[in-house]
Amino acid sequence: MKITVVGAGAVGATCADNIARKELAEELIVLDIKEGFAEGKAIDIMQTSGLLGFDTKVKGVTNDYAATADSEVVVITSGLPRKPGMTREELIGTNAGIVKSVTENILKYSPNTIIIVVSNPMDTMNYLTLKTSGLPKERILGMGGALDSSRFKYYLSQELGCSQADLNAVVIGGHGDTTMIPLIKHATWNSIPVTNFLTEEQQEKVVSATMVGGATLTKLIGTSAWYAPGAGTASMVESIVRDEKKLISCGVALDGEYGQKDISLVVPVVLGKNGWEKIVNFNLSEQEQAAFNKSADAVRNMNQVLRD
Ligand code: NAI
Repeated sequence: MKITVVGAGAVGATCADNIARKELAEELIVLDIKEGFAEGKAIDIMQTSGLLGFDTKVKGVTNDYAATADSEVVVITSGLPRKPGMTREELIGTNAGIVKSVTENILKYSPNTIIIVVSNPMDTMNYLTLKTSGLPKERILGMGGALDSSRFKYYLSQELGCSQADLNAVVIGGHGDTTMIPLIKHATWNSIPVTNFLTEEQQEKVVSATMVGGATLTKLIGTSAWYAPGAGTASMVESIVRDEKKLISCGVALDGEYGQKDISLVVPVVLGKNGWEKIVNFNLSEQEQAAFNKSADAVRNMNQVLRD
């Protein structure tokens, strides 16, 4: 198994570190455009191998796509991150150019790979990859829901005073501060609805904290987060390479599911060796479906920029 991570920055390197520790591949290539940067990050990760005892061989390269040949999964994290006060949407101009050229270069050497898009604004970058790659839609996934659902669990656990491991909580919609939809009415604590334990006010607090979870960290850190994004991406890679069939919220092309078409949005999918295998339907209430449609409108508007 060979995996490539493009972009050796904060998220890419953290994702690579998780992949190596979990031994999800025999060979892991980390590629960056900045001379020597990926090489340095890869050597640093390899120098933890003696301490942690993993056998994945991590190699860093500067823009050498031939080294990525025959990768079964490619993660794209290249692009600018947000600065405090910025929205993910403001990154679109620069990141669209980067994601498009990276996708084209990757496909020259791994024409049948599975691509996970992390670069922001993720919904639009994933849509762009769907349109430019020509790959079957099942092989293109956006990372956002894994992260947002995990942030949702964190805020729920804070409010409930419980273990995150006992929670089931899902975010769908767009991967933006105003477009994501934490499905609070469907969240459970060991199968019991969390709404049994939380007041309306507490529920609203959790939902809004989740929606601005990324912005909160950007303000604190000065740039966007990386531990949870890196781990969220690696959890998707793991379900694919180990064919685990985990149900994970991912950005995927919708073709009528959830009432939407010709768009990438975050919904729960079963992830296995061929990419996403099945979109799982939630019985959304009228209010939740209306919120989903509103997110779709916002994302569609953003996608329009690609055509302008
Ligand atoms: P970073 O600035 O630390 O790393 C980005 C890396 O991409 C840099 O090392 C840069 O040299 C490299 N790069 C730029 N152009 C390239 C190209 N053409 N080819 C190869 N490498 C190139 O940024 P960070 O924090 O790692 O974030 C990366 C992206 O992921 C950003 O767009 C950020 O907004 C996004 N992100 C998405 C999340 C999600 O949930 N989908 C969560 C967190 C970040």
